[in-house]
Amino acid sequence: MRIFSGIQPTGRKHLGNYIGAITQYVAGQDRGEGIYCVVDLHAITVSYDPAGLRTAVYDTAALLLAAGLDPERCIFFRQSDVPEHTELTWLLSSVTSFGDLNRMHQFKEKSAAQRELVTAGLFTYPVLMAADVLAYRAHEVPVGDDQRQHVELMRDVAERFNARFGETLVVPQVRIPAVGARIMDLQAPERKMSTTSDSPQGLIHVTEEPAQIVRKVRAAVTDSGSEVRRGPDKPGISNLIEIMAAVRGSEPAAIEREFEGSGYGSFKQAVADAVVEYLAPVRERYGELRADEAALERALAGGAERARAIASDTLADVRAAMGVGAVRPRG
Ligand code: TYM
Repeated sequence: MRIFSGIQPTGRKHLGNYIGAITQYVAGQDRGEGIYCVVDLHAITVSYDPAGLRTAVYDTAALLLAAGLDPERCIFFRQSDVPEHTELTWLLSSVTSFGDLNRMHQFKEKSAAQRELVTAGLFTYPVLMAADVLAYRAHEVPVGDDQRQHVELMRDVAERFNARFGETLVVPQVRIPAVGARIMDLQAPERKMSTTSDSPQGLIHVTEEPAQIVRKVRAAVTDSGSEVRRGPDKPGISNLIEIMAAVRGSEPAAIEREFEGSGYGSFKQAVADAVVEYLAPVRERYGELRADEAALERALAGGAERARAIASDTLADVRAAMGVGAVRPRG
């Protein structure tokens, strides 16, 4: 079983990324062959600062290592170090439907948020994402709920490629966690927690100071009731129940039973303490790993070499199937 996922080097990663995706990457190392990538080429599709991008790649790489990715037990690399991703993006664009790209929720949201330029790269972003996964013939793609539509698109692309050019690519399955697939903003619980949120108080960074975490959870927006239970009219409390269940590795219903009658104040304090404890080991390891950029570069370079060995093999098959380039003996 081969598992692939990617994460953007944008800003500091938050509790939603950690619960929805990063913990799944770490677990994937025991379930199969994990291949994980920091997708710097996706990050350039919106306005960005070049020097800041390099730094953000190190931040994200250090965070993933601190969370438990082990370059000995998985392949961990930076997307732009493996040029096969960009070549495959172009080749796959000829089996990607323009209409499908036009229907992507993320494109609609992100293009609406751009003040100056909506780039063609933002539009074809999902094709690069398809190339990321299909280059490795991965079977499974662990992501949060917001990436579901992108994974559906890459499945269509793989199916269309195989139908048109013969069985070449693996059609991957999405893997979305049962609990914590969509962590919401603490200040605006009808919106997902996101780096681009305009309420810093609504977002918990993975490496945030414990005192800040406690403050933010205690200040989370809730309704005027007092019962700790989920409901459509209780998005704030529902989100805290979901967070608590994910952090504890239990079920939302079990959390509701445990905190029945306890009131919002003491429930929030319990959630805050649990989140602090949950993130503490990552925060402790992060500082040391982030300080050694040369070691991070070495880890990423080693991963890129192993990734290229796999991706270049797929590319040779894709080129051959499409009748592109010189005839090359295989073997
Ligand atoms: P990115 O960098 O925005 O997010 C990384 C992962 O975190 C998940 N996530 C969440 N999960 C739960 N609650 C939230 N509030 C929340 N916010 C984010 C995302 O679903 C994601 O799994 N396009 C991708 C990166 C990518 C990729 C790929 C993923 C590029 N190539 C290939 C899988 C396979 C993205 O922007 O993720």
